[in-house]
Amino acid sequence: MGRYRLLFSDNVTDHMLGSEALIADLCARLDIVPGIVSPDGLVSVERTSCTGLCDQGPALLVNHRHVVTRLDQARVARIAELVSAEVPVPQWPAEWFHVDDNIRRADVLLNQVPAPGAAIAAALARGADATLEEVTQSKLRGRGGAGFVTSTKWALCRRAPGAAHYVVCNADEGEPGTFKDRVLLTRMADDVFEGMTVAAWVVGARRGLVYLRGEYRYLLEHLHAVLQRRRQQHLLGNAIHGHAGFDFDIDIHLGAGAYVCGEESALIESLEGKRGTPRIRPPFPVEHGYLGQPTAVNNVETFCAASRIALHGGAWWAAIGTEKSTGTKIHSVSGDVERPGIYEYPLGTRIARILEDCGARDTQAVQVGGPSGVCISAFEFGRRIAFEDVPTAGAFMVFNRSRDMFEVARNFAHFFAHESCGFCTPCRVGTTLVVKRMDKLVAGNGSRHDIDVLFELDKLMHATTHCGLGASACNPLRDTIAKFRPSYERHLKSLHFVPGFDLDAELSIARRVSGRDDVAAHLETRP
Ligand SMILES: Cc1cc2nc3c(=O)[nH]c(=O)nc-3n(C[C@H](O)[C@H](O)[C@H](O)COP(=O)(O)O)c2cc1C
Ligand code: SF4
Repeated sequence: MGRYRLLFSDNVTDHMLGSEALIADLCARLDIVPGIVSPDGLVSVERTSCTGLCDQGPALLVNHRHVVTRLDQARVARIAELVSAEVPVPQWPAEWFHVDDNIRRADVLLNQVPAPGAAIAAALARGADATLEEVTQSKLRGRGGAGFVTSTKWALCRRAPGAAHYVVCNADEGEPGTFKDRVLLTRMADDVFEGMTVAAWVVGARRGLVYLRGEYRYLLEHLHAVLQRRRQQHLLGNAIHGHAGFDFDIDIHLGAGAYVCGEESALIESLEGKRGTPRIRPPFPVEHGYLGQPTAVNNVETFCAASRIALHGGAWWAAIGTEKSTGTKIHSVSGDVERPGIYEYPLGTRIARILEDCGARDTQAVQVGGPSGVCISAFEFGRRIAFEDVPTAGAFMVFNRSRDMFEVARNFAHFFAHESCGFCTPCRVGTTLVVKRMDKLVAGNGSRHDIDVLFELDKLMHATTHCGLGASACNPLRDTIAKFRPSYERHLKSLHFVPGFDLDAELSIARRVSGRDDVAAHLETRP
């Protein structure tokens, strides 16, 4: 890499905001090619997976420490000058590094800022058993994607034998289109640490770890300052809140930019200083986690919710949302909307309501939960965000009718192929085969057979991959092929005849694509 390493966020929302043209412009100004370091070693320009700034893109990461938001041609021209003059990055215009929180709709979590220590005091007054009982009553489910019942996880961890118990906050937030944890860590770090401390009280942990995604390194100073203040306030350290024997402290571990490290067992491997590869489970982290000890891993938002439950009680949380999906959910809204940012709603809210509030017009699709989530088309906008209908880890990417849903799915396919850790063959090879098929379609060399193969790959990977990354890698493909098939067929230029295929169907597609009735004469026949 160059002494100035410029990493452009490669998420589809950055593309929609013109990132590719800006990369080309910057490289032309610096006289370099993307991915290749300049001969003098000064600069390299590359693409990286989503940087968690989709509400203010196109975004750029400089030397892993600084984020530049809202890139445009003028900024790119100035960056080229500053790099060429070797101006140190901290001396670049300060406003470039400003990251907005963009909180557009606040509900019970984002609306209130409880006094630091209030939830811990309530939990201590109640006792560990009764605090766990409140979390059980709340029916809180994890906000990191899998939706596991939080009280069950804590109870299993608490019960598991071990020399030490650990609480881990998953702040990896690598799912493209998700940036709500960034805002929670910026605005409500006290709540997150408070929730971790409540968890520690329940499971009997003395040490907590925050796994912070590498792209959020710029938050490190702020988070350390909050931790330090909490130590001074006796909300961390020995005898927390004056309670003899309740000792707990939190460290922050920085990730290095791998999406798979958000998977809890890969995250634990990474915390232990090893390569982030998902473990074979069982045993699960609640029994055999960090350093082989019982470990409760939860998402940032889950800890925020848990601290509020400790404060207001389980019944209060359970009264919000639906029967099976209690409480609120925070959404990271980006894409073709007037007001991108953070929206908190009670679970059970309809997709149409969110679209209306964020100023979405002429919407053809919403990718809920990021690439590994589900693609919702217009006829489904009446569906609800809830575990029993459309579950989500928080991404809400909106696409209007001018967008090519095939290209959206292709961007996601490249993301999964890039992020596959390579441990198991179905994912390592499968994600690459998917990319090759899709690129083949773009090159105009595809047939309907390739679309069917994509379907087969989805089934195969779903059934055979080692972790959730591979299992969900084809979700966007499956959904977009089913709901936006014409955007795939548009790429079918020629017709390949493959034994066993439905010739009439092939001919009908070929007629439609070519606009000619005599397509049979142009059939390419393979042995
Ligand atoms: C590939 C992959 C990436 C994941 N990334 C994250 C992440 O960035 N943040 C997160 O909280 N959970 C992530 N998860 C889910 C975690 O494995 C785990 O379920 C979650 O941290 C548990 O917390 P919760 O119960 O509070 O949801 C990921 C899972 C997979 C398979
Ligand atoms: S499914 Fe993919 S990311 Fe998960 S272990 Fe296999 S290769 Fe690694």
